[in-house]
Amino acid sequence: MKKYITTPIYYLNGLPHIGHAYTSILGDVMKKFEQMNGNDVYYTTGTDEHGQKNQHSIETSGLNADEFLTRQSENFHNLFVDLGIDFDYFVRTSKPEHKKIVQEILQNIYDKGLIVKKSYEGLYCEGCEQFKKPSDLDQNGCCPDHKVAPKPISEENYFFRLEPYRQWLIDYIKTHPDWIQPTKYANEVLGMLKEPLEDLCISRPKSRVWLGIELPFDSNYVTYIWFDALVNYISTLNYGHNSDFDIIWANSTHLIGKDILKPHCIYWPIMLHALGINPVSRYFIHGFWIGEGGVKMSKSLGNVVDPIEVIRLLGVDALRFYLIHNMTLGGDSPISLSMLKQGYKMLANNIGNLQMRVLKMVQKNLNNKVPSSVSLNNEDKKLITDIADRFAQIYHQEISLETVNNLANDVVKSGTEVNAYFAAHEPWVLAKDPNQKERFNAVIYTTLECLRLIGLAMYPLTPETAYKILDSLGIKPQPFKADFKPFILSENNEIKVGSPLFPIIE
Ligand code: MSP
Repeated sequence: MKKYITTPIYYLNGLPHIGHAYTSILGDVMKKFEQMNGNDVYYTTGTDEHGQKNQHSIETSGLNADEFLTRQSENFHNLFVDLGIDFDYFVRTSKPEHKKIVQEILQNIYDKGLIVKKSYEGLYCEGCEQFKKPSDLDQNGCCPDHKVAPKPISEENYFFRLEPYRQWLIDYIKTHPDWIQPTKYANEVLGMLKEPLEDLCISRPKSRVWLGIELPFDSNYVTYIWFDALVNYISTLNYGHNSDFDIIWANSTHLIGKDILKPHCIYWPIMLHALGINPVSRYFIHGFWIGEGGVKMSKSLGNVVDPIEVIRLLGVDALRFYLIHNMTLGGDSPISLSMLKQGYKMLANNIGNLQMRVLKMVQKNLNNKVPSSVSLNNEDKKLITDIADRFAQIYHQEISLETVNNLANDVVKSGTEVNAYFAAHEPWVLAKDPNQKERFNAVIYTTLECLRLIGLAMYPLTPETAYKILDSLGIKPQPFKADFKPFILSENNEIKVGSPLFPIIE
């Protein structure tokens, strides 16, 4: 089946941090998980290159807009490549293909008479690139996410009326309980829909914002950044010029952080509805990584964990695993370099040590061969089949934030069980006793077979580590399939002791 997964496109006013890396890693984990189940996935991520926030950064950078945007966008692109993220298309909203489709859509909605011009006064938060109501602000009159007071703005602008669609949206949410997951965010959106919706200001005068896509019906204005950015999800599919659009859009998933719920779950479905397009099939909403100071990690607040530094210290896979394993579902999660190091050590002790200990034993006692014709007792068989069943079950689940989190939990759980089994049976003692040869072989076979299942299951989370584990067990590379049939390793598998999966760090 063809599926479509997207991440938000990121602003370019700073360097990418762990929060951005997380959503794009999450999409890649989901893509790989789906591929292991035989599904074909089109996955996009990228950068949001217009608007006032980017414009200010350009103005203080000393570079021209193109140079600045290309340099900043490459920082995201290169990081995502380094993180092993297998995106099919990297969105840049400054590309002419995207601009053309945004203008076509604006014209379409304008021709339908859904856009009106009027003067407006409001409070604008540049961090959110959104007008705020006084009730959206904290007790100091500041934006709760950016801790900055929004600026009063008064101008003539174009508006898109949202209120006529409010009841339709409420009904849609109520009749599609899995549309916005976790459910608490669906309730949050329903809360936002209790009051009448204000008209959405979809233009910015060029005198204030020059970095944007010109309105096709008034060259004094550019379009509002969110109207431009949200369209990326369909411009990427060449909406309006692609006869397969409906097929791929029919199974689409938006991954977003909880900070951008309103534009995604209110503006966007209404824009699509006005265009006669169905809403995205589902949203997966995640919470924030909380940096030092106990607040959302963000470029504007300067409390970010630098993913490049983490990769240099701990490698890509430890970072990927940590993020998927430790994000609290439906909530926020703290993160720091020392917590990431703890996560690395956990993987080293759990999976890394297990692999090295059993492989060294095979090298020393079995001439790098998987023991053949072993007679497994009930305990051995049960451990293997329990782990195989556990992973088969996870891979049968519908993908969700919970599924990938459960997968990481099950990897740790299985590693812990196999370590306990290995320690309890002391194969290093059995190896010395010729009368225990059969038992030794059975314990080694059981451990190797469990390691194979764990390595296979880890592939979406930690692709490099999965390759290394499976390669060390003589298993030919990909495409890996979610086939957890047990008792597959045989004497034909050549064992290779390589370097440690998670070497000791300082
Ligand atoms: N450009 C808009 C999105 C437009 S999508 C049509 C934007 N960009 S952003 O650079 O601010 O990135 C927002 C997204 O980055 C969040 O929704 C989330 O996916 C991710 N994160 C940014 N900071 C984060 C954390 N501290 N924690 C977790 N994710 C975070 O909004």
